[in-house]
Amino acid sequence: MVDYSPASRKRRKLDDGAPYEGPLPRKYRQWDASALVPHYNHKGDMPPSIQKWFPRRHQLFSLYDSGCLLDEVGWFSITPEKIADQIAERCRCDVVLDAFCGVGGNAIAFARTCERVIAIDNSPVRLALARHNAAVYGVVDRIEFILGDYISFARSYAQLASSSSKRRKIDVVFLSPPWGGPEYNKPGDSEAEGGERAAYHLDAVTPVHGKELFELSRRITPNVAYYLPRHVDLAEVGALLDKEGETVEVEEEWMGNRLTAVTCYFGGLAEGQEQLFDAETV
Ligand SMILES: C[S@@+](CC[C@H](N)C(=O)[O-])C[C@H]1O[C@@H](n2cnc3c(N)ncnc32)[C@H](O)[C@@H]1O
Repeated sequence: MVDYSPASRKRRKLDDGAPYEGPLPRKYRQWDASALVPHYNHKGDMPPSIQKWFPRRHQLFSLYDSGCLLDEVGWFSITPEKIADQIAERCRCDVVLDAFCGVGGNAIAFARTCERVIAIDNSPVRLALARHNAAVYGVVDRIEFILGDYISFARSYAQLASSSSKRRKIDVVFLSPPWGGPEYNKPGDSEAEGGERAAYHLDAVTPVHGKELFELSRRITPNVAYYLPRHVDLAEVGALLDKEGETVEVEEEWMGNRLTAVTCYFGGLAEGQEQLFDAETV
Protein backbone atom coordinates (compact mmCIF):
# COMPACT_ATOMS: atom_id res chain seq x y z
CA MET A 1 0.00 0.00 0.00
CA VAL A 2 1.29 3.44 -0.85
CA ASP A 3 1.27 5.92 2.01
CA TYR A 4 -0.05 9.26 0.73
CA SER A 5 -0.27 10.91 4.15
CA PRO A 6 1.17 14.44 4.42
CA ALA A 7 3.83 13.12 6.78
CA SER A 8 4.97 10.60 4.19
CA ARG A 9 4.98 13.26 1.43
CA LYS A 10 7.23 15.35 3.62
CA ARG A 11 9.52 12.37 4.19
CA ARG A 12 9.71 11.63 0.48
CA LYS A 13 10.55 15.23 -0.24
CA LEU A 14 13.36 15.11 2.29
CA ASP A 15 14.64 11.83 0.70
CA ASP A 16 14.58 13.41 -2.75
CA GLY A 17 16.83 16.16 -1.55
CA ALA A 18 19.19 13.77 0.25
CA PRO A 19 22.84 14.33 -0.54
CA TYR A 20 24.24 11.95 -3.17
CA GLU A 21 27.97 11.39 -3.25
CA GLY A 22 28.19 8.45 -5.66
CA PRO A 23 29.99 8.46 -9.01
CA LEU A 24 26.97 9.04 -11.26
CA PRO A 25 25.47 12.35 -12.32
CA ARG A 26 22.79 13.09 -9.72
CA LYS A 27 19.90 12.59 -12.18
CA TYR A 28 21.02 8.97 -12.70
CA ARG A 29 21.61 8.15 -9.05
CA GLN A 30 18.91 5.45 -9.04
CA TRP A 31 21.18 3.38 -11.32
CA ASP A 32 24.17 3.56 -8.97
CA ALA A 33 25.40 -0.06 -8.59
CA SER A 34 28.39 0.75 -6.37
CA ALA A 35 27.01 -1.53 -3.65
CA LEU A 36 27.36 -4.58 -5.93
CA VAL A 37 31.11 -4.70 -6.62
CA PRO A 38 34.18 -2.70 -5.57
CA HIS A 39 35.71 -0.03 -7.79
CA TYR A 40 39.41 -0.86 -7.66
CA ASN A 41 42.02 1.87 -7.44
CA HIS A 42 44.90 -0.45 -6.55
CA LYS A 43 45.87 -3.66 -8.24
CA GLY A 44 46.69 -5.25 -4.88
CA ASP A 45 43.05 -4.91 -3.75
CA MET A 46 41.83 -7.10 -6.60
CA PRO A 47 41.40 -10.88 -6.43
CA PRO A 48 44.54 -12.44 -7.99
CA SER A 49 42.50 -13.95 -10.85
CA ILE A 50 41.75 -10.50 -12.33
CA GLN A 51 44.82 -8.47 -11.29
CA LYS A 52 46.36 -8.75 -14.77
CA TRP A 53 43.55 -6.57 -16.14
CA PHE A 54 44.23 -3.63 -13.83
CA PRO A 55 46.95 -2.00 -16.00
CA ARG A 56 44.54 -2.25 -18.98
CA ARG A 57 41.55 -0.74 -17.18
CA HIS A 58 41.54 2.45 -19.29
CA GLN A 59 41.61 0.38 -22.49
CA LEU A 60 38.46 -1.36 -21.28
CA PHE A 61 36.70 1.83 -20.16
CA SER A 62 38.43 5.16 -20.89
CA LEU A 63 36.17 6.63 -18.16
CA TYR A 64 37.18 3.94 -15.66
CA ASP A 65 38.30 6.58 -13.15
CA SER A 66 34.84 8.19 -13.26
CA GLY A 67 33.46 5.13 -11.49
CA CYS A 68 32.98 2.29 -14.02
CA LEU A 69 32.27 -1.04 -12.37
CA LEU A 70 33.06 -4.59 -13.46
CA ASP A 71 32.53 -7.94 -11.77
CA GLU A 72 34.99 -10.80 -12.21
CA VAL A 73 33.37 -12.12 -15.42
CA GLY A 74 33.13 -8.54 -16.70
CA TRP A 75 36.89 -7.98 -16.25
CA PHE A 76 37.88 -10.85 -18.50
CA SER A 77 35.01 -10.72 -20.98
CA ILE A 78 34.39 -7.05 -21.78
CA THR A 79 35.12 -5.81 -25.31
CA PRO A 80 37.83 -3.09 -25.03
CA GLU A 81 36.42 0.36 -25.78
CA LYS A 82 38.30 1.09 -29.02
CA ILE A 83 37.25 -2.24 -30.48
CA ALA A 84 33.65 -1.71 -29.31
CA ASP A 85 33.70 1.73 -30.99
CA GLN A 86 34.94 0.21 -34.25
CA ILE A 87 32.21 -2.47 -34.20
CA ALA A 88 29.57 0.14 -33.34
CA GLU A 89 30.63 2.24 -36.31
CA ARG A 90 30.21 -0.77 -38.62
CA CYS A 91 26.78 -1.53 -37.08
CA ARG A 92 25.40 2.04 -37.31
CA CYS A 93 21.58 1.69 -37.62
CA ASP A 94 18.24 2.52 -35.98
CA VAL A 95 17.81 -0.43 -33.61
CA VAL A 96 20.63 -2.75 -32.55
CA LEU A 97 20.20 -5.71 -30.23
CA ASP A 98 23.18 -6.53 -28.00
CA ALA A 99 22.26 -10.12 -27.13
CA PHE A 100 24.85 -10.66 -24.35
CA CYS A 101 25.55 -7.18 -23.02
CA GLY A 102 27.72 -8.10 -20.01
CA VAL A 103 28.89 -4.96 -18.19
CA GLY A 104 28.07 -2.81 -21.20
CA GLY A 105 31.28 -2.48 -23.22
CA ASN A 106 29.51 -2.82 -26.58
CA ALA A 107 26.10 -1.46 -25.56
CA ILE A 108 27.66 1.88 -24.55
CA ALA A 109 29.46 2.13 -27.89
CA PHE A 110 26.28 1.26 -29.81
CA ALA A 111 24.43 4.01 -27.96
CA ARG A 112 26.73 6.49 -29.68
CA THR A 113 26.06 5.25 -33.24
CA CYS A 114 22.53 3.81 -33.13
CA GLU A 115 19.19 5.43 -32.34
CA ARG A 116 18.18 2.72 -29.90
CA VAL A 117 19.98 -0.15 -28.17
CA ILE A 118 18.28 -3.22 -26.71
CA ALA A 119 20.71 -4.81 -24.26
CA ILE A 120 20.02 -8.29 -22.86
CA ASP A 121 21.88 -10.25 -20.20
CA ASN A 122 20.75 -13.06 -17.93
CA SER A 123 22.90 -11.93 -15.01
CA PRO A 124 21.08 -9.37 -12.83
CA VAL A 125 24.39 -8.15 -11.43
CA ARG A 126 26.03 -7.58 -14.80
CA LEU A 127 22.90 -5.95 -16.19
CA ALA A 128 22.91 -3.52 -13.24
CA LEU A 129 26.63 -2.85 -13.81
CA ALA A 130 25.98 -2.22 -17.52
CA ARG A 131 23.29 0.31 -16.65
CA HIS A 132 25.57 1.98 -14.09
CA ASN A 133 28.41 2.19 -16.65
CA ALA A 134 26.05 3.56 -19.31
CA ALA A 135 25.09 6.28 -16.80
CA VAL A 136 28.79 7.10 -16.29
CA TYR A 137 29.01 7.59 -20.07
CA GLY A 138 25.77 9.63 -20.16
CA VAL A 139 24.06 7.26 -22.63
CA VAL A 140 21.76 5.31 -20.30
CA ASP A 141 18.60 6.88 -21.77
CA ARG A 142 19.33 5.40 -25.20
CA ILE A 143 19.52 1.80 -23.97
CA GLU A 144 16.69 -0.57 -22.98
CA PHE A 145 18.06 -3.10 -20.52
CA ILE A 146 16.35 -6.48 -20.46
CA LEU A 147 17.09 -9.13 -17.86
CA GLY A 148 16.55 -12.45 -19.57
CA ASP A 149 17.70 -15.36 -21.67
CA TYR A 150 18.54 -14.33 -25.22
CA ILE A 151 17.78 -17.79 -26.60
CA SER A 152 14.18 -17.66 -25.34
CA PHE A 153 13.90 -14.07 -26.58
CA ALA A 154 15.13 -15.02 -30.07
CA ARG A 155 12.86 -18.08 -30.29
CA SER A 156 9.78 -16.07 -29.28
CA TYR A 157 10.69 -13.24 -31.64
CA ALA A 158 11.15 -15.64 -34.55
CA GLN A 159 7.70 -17.10 -33.96
CA LEU A 160 5.96 -13.75 -34.27
CA ALA A 161 4.61 -13.17 -37.76
CA SER A 162 6.46 -10.37 -39.54
CA SER A 163 3.13 -8.49 -39.69
CA SER A 164 2.61 -8.68 -35.91
CA SER A 165 2.62 -5.33 -34.17
CA LYS A 166 4.55 -7.02 -31.34
CA ARG A 167 7.44 -7.74 -33.72
CA ARG A 168 9.48 -4.63 -33.35
CA LYS A 169 11.99 -4.06 -36.14
CA ILE A 170 15.55 -4.92 -35.15
CA ASP A 171 18.15 -3.91 -37.75
CA VAL A 172 21.28 -5.55 -36.36
CA VAL A 173 21.99 -8.30 -33.83
CA PHE A 174 25.39 -8.26 -32.12
CA LEU A 175 26.56 -11.54 -30.60
CA SER A 176 29.34 -11.67 -28.00
CA PRO A 177 28.38 -14.89 -26.23
CA PRO A 178 30.48 -16.55 -23.52
CA TRP A 179 33.36 -18.33 -25.26
CA GLY A 180 33.54 -21.01 -22.58
CA GLY A 181 35.19 -19.10 -19.69
CA PRO A 182 38.90 -18.26 -19.33
CA GLU A 183 39.66 -21.86 -20.36
CA TYR A 184 38.81 -21.05 -24.00
CA ASN A 185 42.24 -19.49 -24.47
CA LYS A 186 44.38 -22.23 -22.95
CA PRO A 187 46.97 -23.44 -25.46
CA GLY A 188 46.35 -26.95 -26.70
CA ASP A 189 48.97 -29.71 -26.43
CA SER A 190 50.35 -29.03 -29.90
CA GLU A 191 50.95 -25.32 -29.16
CA ALA A 192 52.61 -26.12 -25.85
CA GLU A 193 54.98 -28.28 -27.90
CA GLY A 194 55.76 -25.34 -30.23
CA GLY A 195 53.18 -26.30 -32.86
CA GLU A 196 50.12 -24.41 -34.10
CA ARG A 197 47.43 -23.20 -31.66
CA ALA A 198 44.45 -25.53 -31.84
CA ALA A 199 41.49 -23.88 -33.55
CA TYR A 200 38.49 -22.72 -31.54
CA HIS A 201 35.33 -24.53 -32.59
CA LEU A 202 31.83 -23.11 -32.55
CA ASP A 203 30.59 -25.96 -30.38
CA ALA A 204 32.49 -24.32 -27.47
CA VAL A 205 30.22 -21.25 -27.61
CA THR A 206 27.59 -21.15 -24.84
CA PRO A 207 24.68 -21.21 -24.00
CA VAL A 208 24.01 -23.13 -27.26
CA HIS A 209 26.20 -24.31 -30.14
CA GLY A 210 27.56 -21.28 -32.02
CA LYS A 211 25.86 -22.42 -35.24
CA GLU A 212 22.45 -22.62 -33.56
CA LEU A 213 23.03 -19.20 -32.00
CA PHE A 214 23.78 -17.75 -35.44
CA GLU A 215 20.77 -19.38 -37.10
CA LEU A 216 18.41 -18.16 -34.37
CA SER A 217 19.74 -14.62 -34.74
CA ARG A 218 19.37 -14.67 -38.51
CA ARG A 219 15.65 -15.25 -38.02
CA ILE A 220 15.59 -11.78 -36.44
CA THR A 221 17.66 -9.97 -39.07
CA PRO A 222 20.11 -10.81 -41.86
CA ASN A 223 22.57 -8.35 -40.29
CA VAL A 224 24.55 -10.15 -37.62
CA ALA A 225 27.92 -9.18 -36.15
CA TYR A 226 29.52 -12.14 -34.38
CA TYR A 227 32.44 -11.49 -31.98
CA LEU A 228 34.59 -14.60 -31.68
CA PRO A 229 38.02 -15.70 -30.42
CA ARG A 230 40.99 -14.85 -32.65
CA HIS A 231 41.71 -18.55 -33.24
CA VAL A 232 38.17 -19.46 -34.33
CA ASP A 233 38.01 -21.98 -37.15
CA LEU A 234 37.17 -19.69 -40.08
CA ALA A 235 36.05 -22.60 -42.24
CA GLU A 236 33.28 -23.19 -39.68
CA VAL A 237 32.38 -19.50 -39.77
CA GLY A 238 32.15 -19.57 -43.59
CA ALA A 239 30.04 -22.72 -43.44
CA LEU A 240 27.39 -20.84 -41.42
CA LEU A 241 26.22 -19.37 -44.72
CA ASP A 242 24.04 -21.58 -46.78
CA LYS A 243 22.87 -18.97 -49.30
CA GLU A 244 24.70 -19.01 -52.64
CA GLY A 245 26.64 -15.84 -53.20
CA GLU A 246 26.43 -14.35 -49.69
CA THR A 247 29.78 -13.75 -48.07
CA VAL A 248 31.00 -13.04 -44.54
CA GLU A 249 33.54 -10.34 -43.81
CA VAL A 250 36.00 -11.09 -41.02
CA GLU A 251 37.65 -8.18 -39.23
CA GLU A 252 40.66 -8.75 -37.01
CA GLU A 253 40.57 -6.79 -33.75
CA TRP A 254 44.07 -5.72 -32.62
CA MET A 255 45.06 -3.99 -29.39
CA GLY A 256 48.58 -2.68 -29.99
CA ASN A 257 50.53 -5.71 -31.19
CA ARG A 258 47.99 -8.26 -29.88
CA LEU A 259 45.30 -9.84 -32.01
CA THR A 260 42.50 -10.15 -29.44
CA ALA A 261 39.43 -11.33 -31.37
CA VAL A 262 37.67 -11.33 -34.72
CA THR A 263 34.31 -9.83 -35.65
CA CYS A 264 32.41 -11.61 -38.43
CA TYR A 265 29.95 -9.42 -40.31
CA PHE A 266 27.02 -11.04 -42.11
CA GLY A 267 24.22 -9.80 -44.36
CA GLY A 268 24.19 -6.07 -45.12
CA LEU A 269 27.05 -5.44 -42.66
CA ALA A 270 29.60 -7.07 -44.97
CA GLU A 271 31.29 -4.76 -47.41
CA GLY A 272 29.76 -4.96 -50.90
CA GLN A 273 26.54 -6.55 -49.60
CA GLU A 274 24.75 -3.42 -48.43
CA GLN A 275 21.69 -4.38 -50.54
CA LEU A 276 21.03 -7.24 -48.08
CA PHE A 277 20.51 -4.84 -45.17
CA ASP A 278 16.72 -4.69 -45.55
CA ALA A 279 16.28 -8.22 -46.90
CA GLU A 280 13.54 -10.41 -45.44
CA THR A 281 14.57 -12.92 -42.79
CA VAL A 282 14.03 -16.66 -43.33
C1 LIG B 1 31.35 -12.26 -23.22
S1 LIG B 1 30.23 -11.57 -22.07
C2 LIG B 1 29.67 -10.13 -22.94
C3 LIG B 1 30.60 -8.97 -22.79
C4 LIG B 1 30.07 -7.68 -23.39
N1 LIG B 1 30.10 -7.70 -24.83
C5 LIG B 1 30.84 -6.48 -22.88
O1 LIG B 1 31.55 -5.82 -23.68
O2 LIG B 1 30.75 -6.17 -21.68
C6 LIG B 1 28.86 -12.66 -22.19
C7 LIG B 1 27.65 -12.32 -21.33
O3 LIG B 1 26.59 -13.20 -21.72
C8 LIG B 1 25.75 -13.38 -20.60
N2 LIG B 1 24.91 -14.56 -20.87
C9 LIG B 1 25.23 -15.88 -20.77
N3 LIG B 1 24.21 -16.64 -21.16
C10 LIG B 1 23.20 -15.81 -21.52
C11 LIG B 1 21.89 -15.99 -22.03
N4 LIG B 1 21.39 -17.21 -22.23
N5 LIG B 1 21.14 -14.89 -22.33
C12 LIG B 1 21.63 -13.64 -22.12
N6 LIG B 1 22.87 -13.41 -21.63
C13 LIG B 1 23.65 -14.46 -21.34
C14 LIG B 1 26.71 -13.51 -19.43
O4 LIG B 1 26.05 -13.19 -18.22
C15 LIG B 1 27.81 -12.52 -19.82
O5 LIG B 1 27.61 -11.29 -19.17
